[in-house]
Amino acid sequence: MHTPTRRLFLGAGIAGGAALVAGCTDDTPSPEPGAPSASEIDPRAWDPQDWESIRAQFLLDPTLAQFAAFVLSPHTRLLDAAIADHRDQLGRDTEDALLVGYANDDAVREAAAAFAGGDSSQYALTGSTTMGLAIMYGGLALGEKDTVLTTTHDFFATEDSLRLLNQRTGARIQRIDLYDDPADATVDDMTKRVLDAVTPRTKVVALTWVHSSTGVRVPIQEIAAGLRDDVLLCVDGVHGFAAVDVDLPDLGCDFLSSGTHKWLFGPRGTGILWGADWAPLTEIIPSFSGPDGPARLTPGGYHAFEHQWAAKDAFELMQSIGRTRVVERTVQQATQLKEGLAGLDGLTVITPSDPAVSAGIVCVDVDSMLPANVVQELRTRGVVASATPYRTSYLRLGPSIATSPEEVDRAVAALEEIAA
Ligand SMILES: Cc1ncc(COP(=O)(O)O)c(C=O)c1O
Repeated sequence: MHTPTRRLFLGAGIAGGAALVAGCTDDTPSPEPGAPSASEIDPRAWDPQDWESIRAQFLLDPTLAQFAAFVLSPHTRLLDAAIADHRDQLGRDTEDALLVGYANDDAVREAAAAFAGGDSSQYALTGSTTMGLAIMYGGLALGEKDTVLTTTHDFFATEDSLRLLNQRTGARIQRIDLYDDPADATVDDMTKRVLDAVTPRTKVVALTWVHSSTGVRVPIQEIAAGLRDDVLLCVDGVHGFAAVDVDLPDLGCDFLSSGTHKWLFGPRGTGILWGADWAPLTEIIPSFSGPDGPARLTPGGYHAFEHQWAAKDAFELMQSIGRTRVVERTVQQATQLKEGLAGLDGLTVITPSDPAVSAGIVCVDVDSMLPANVVQELRTRGVVASATPYRTSYLRLGPSIATSPEEVDRAVAALEEIAA
């Protein structure tokens, strides 16, 4: 049991939010130019049932269609208010604010479990996906005879963590392709490729849930179901977390690291590491709760606590909208975008059209144009996108709760013009 926090404003989470929401919708700030300034807007005046009201929670420039918002959380007004409240308390009486620190950490872990499933003891608090991956791969006990099976599609944070794991333990790192053409990736083929590559020496399978290089979603559940019990399945889950509607324990993996500063739109510099059972991991960063404490995988030391503790409010905000609705909104727009682009000349959609093997990320190749140049061209047309940071780079758009179906149409029209 954690003691309730003493924050004044943050009672306006799920429970308090309902009372505040009622009667507030008329005051919902307009996303149009000339909208009230940030300081004039009451962050609590929002309606979790109304997508425009949800979009108005972001400080994002409303004249731009923000398809790169998922890259690093632009924060909601409620989140910034929660951070400000913690910052004020830390500033006014630091010692007293730190006294409730453990309770605040517990509250974050409980909010995480309420949102993403499992028990709060299965959540360690990290600063990013990358930090969680380092804790996960850095804490595994392997030997020279062991193999880690991974893929050619992962972000460098996984690649480099595995390089260090090999350096530390001598374990062999084996890489396979999960697909030849991302657009043709299927659940069955990806599952088969992983399971066929497993040998008696395979002790760890290291995967990324949704590839930021292509937008392909890897069938973690199906792969987990086919693995031997003694093989640990470790996942970089950042582009699936709050973009796929599933409880983490149902995924079947052993560990999953995710920043909470991407699709969850939580505080920048925060993340979670979920573990089905922490036993296989030795901590690499001393924890404040000691080697036997429930939070032994949460790095100790002092942090930007105003951000760490406000992650609770980000989870609660998403909960009040509803995880299923958030994911449906994301996937509906991603599908609309892929369908809108599918018939256009001069470009190729790289991400599969099937939602079973994709999530919110949509990657596009525009013929004979560098993705970075397409990003610039799009910006002049009021559309913000990004380019993937991989050897083969693609244009990348991420529809989310910060964008609208009208903006998806705008992105399609802009790309039609650019690619023509
Ligand atoms: C697949 C993947 N994992 C991890 C990261 C890094 O996330 P974080 O900033 O939370 O470490 C990124 C991109 O930023 C990514 O695309």
